[in-house]
Amino acid sequence: MSAISTPRTSPVSAPRTYRVKSFGCQMNVYDGQRMEELLAHQGIAPAPEGEQADLVVLNTCHIREKAAEKVYSDIGRIIKDARREDGTQPLIAVAGCVAQAEGEEIMARAPAVTMVVGPQAYHRLPEMIARAVDGERVTDTDMPADAKFAALPKRRSVGPTAFLTVQEGCDKFCTYCVVPYTRGAEISRPYADLIAEAHRLVEAGAREITLLGQNVNAWDGENGKGQKVGLDGLIRDLAAIDGLARIRYTTSHPNDMTDGLIAAHGEVEKLMPFLHLPVQSGSNAILKAMNRSHTAESYLRLLERVREMRPDIALSGDFIVGFPGESEEHFAETIALIDAVGYAQAFSFKYSPRPGTPAATMDDQITGEVMDDRLQRLQAALNRDQHAFNQASLGRSCDVLIERKGKLPGQWLGKSPWLQSVHFQGDYGVGDILRAELVQAGPNSLTGRVIA
Ligand code: SAH
Ligand code: SF4
Ligand code: F3S
Repeated sequence: MSAISTPRTSPVSAPRTYRVKSFGCQMNVYDGQRMEELLAHQGIAPAPEGEQADLVVLNTCHIREKAAEKVYSDIGRIIKDARREDGTQPLIAVAGCVAQAEGEEIMARAPAVTMVVGPQAYHRLPEMIARAVDGERVTDTDMPADAKFAALPKRRSVGPTAFLTVQEGCDKFCTYCVVPYTRGAEISRPYADLIAEAHRLVEAGAREITLLGQNVNAWDGENGKGQKVGLDGLIRDLAAIDGLARIRYTTSHPNDMTDGLIAAHGEVEKLMPFLHLPVQSGSNAILKAMNRSHTAESYLRLLERVREMRPDIALSGDFIVGFPGESEEHFAETIALIDAVGYAQAFSFKYSPRPGTPAATMDDQITGEVMDDRLQRLQAALNRDQHAFNQASLGRSCDVLIERKGKLPGQWLGKSPWLQSVHFQGDYGVGDILRAELVQAGPNSLTGRVIA
C-alpha cells in the first residue's frame, strides 16, 4: 500500500453510506458484492436510491477502450453531483481492473479520487478508508496470492442465484488481452473453502450457484479425501448440497475442457445444460496470432463431444472481429464456424488495442469501418441462430427458477436450464422453481406456461 498526504480544500468525513458500481465481467460483479458486504460489516450502509453516497466505489473493467474512458466521465459526474451544503465531498475509490492497470494515471489525472484499489487488494478497503479520512490518497495494487478471500466477512444474504469465485487470474496471455496483467497469475481457491462458502450461500438463500473464474475450468484442488480433483470433481461434490438446485460455471478455455468435465455434463443432473466456451475466431491463422493454442477444428471436435454427452446443451461463445491482419477470408472462416455450431447465444466485440499487449503493436491494424461492417454481419449470424435455438425450444417442458418480478402486475422473470429468460404470470415468489412449458419466443425472452 502506498499513500500520499494531500492537503484538502474541503474536509472529508467518515463515510456513513456507500454505493458500489461494477462494470465488466461477472467476476467484477462478484467482487462488487463482496465489497458491499465488507463495507456493511464496517457499519457503512447502502445509500438510499437517488441520494448521494458518502463513499463511491467504481469497480472498473479494462477489457476494451471505452470501459476506461467511462470511468473518467463517471468520476466527473460524481464530483458535479456532489456539491454539498456542508462543504464535505464524497470519498471516491477506483477499484477493479482499470485501477490495477492505470492506478498511477488515475491518481494524477483525477485529483478527486482518494483511493485506488486493485482486484486482489480490496479486502484492505477499511484501512484505506481510515487513511483517506485522515487526508491521504492511498493506492493498493498489491497481488497477494489468495489472502483476499480469507480476510472477507462471511456471506449472509443472497438472492436465488449467486456467484462463487473459484479460480482467478490467467496464464494464457492471448495477445490482445489485459486480464493476465490486471488479475495476475492463475490461482485456484482451496476446495474446503469453496464447499464451505457454497453451503453458506445456500443457507443464505441461493438455489443456483455459478462458479466463476477467468479460466474457471483450469480450477484444481485437493478434495476432503486428499485426492487431486478438477472442476468436475468440485461440481460433483457441490451437487450433493441439499437445497442447491442448479450449478453453472463460466468462463472456460477450450484447452482446459477435460474429459471429466465433459462427462459431468452427461452425469450431474444439477449441472445446467449450458456451456460458454469462447473461440474468438474461426481462422487458424488468426487464432495462432492471438496465441489461443486451439484450432477451429479442435474447438469443433470438443463441442461435438460435449453434445454427445448432453445433446440439448446450449452453447455460447465470445468473438473478436478485426484482430490485426484479419482478412475478409479469415472473417469468412469465423462465419463458417458460427454456421457449423449454431450458438444459443454469444458475445461479440470489435478488437480494441490494449496498451502493453503484443497485438496492440502488430502490423495491419483494421480500420473502424471494416470492424463495424464485420461486427454487423457476425451479429446477424448470431441473432439468427439465437432465434432458431429459441424457436426450437417451443413446446419443451422445463424447470424455471424465478429470479425477480417482471414489469407487469403478476409477472415473473426466471431462467430456463438453457439460460433463456422466461416470463410468466401467476402467484409465485422469487426463488420458486416451476415446471413450465415454453409456449412463445420473442426476440429476448420466452413466454412460459406453468404446468406444475
Ligand atoms: N477468460 C475468458 C474471457 C476473458 S475477457 C476467455 O478466455 O474466454 C472476455 C472476452 O472479451 C474475451 O473472450 C474476448 O472475446 C473479449 N476481449 C478480450 N480482450 C479484448 C480486446 N482487446 N478487444 C476486444 N475484445 C476483447
Ligand atoms: Fe484473456 Fe485469453 Fe486469458 Fe481469456 S484466456 S482471460 S482471453 S488472456
Ligand atoms: Fe474487465 Fe477485469 Fe473482468 S478487465 S472483463 S473486469 S477481469
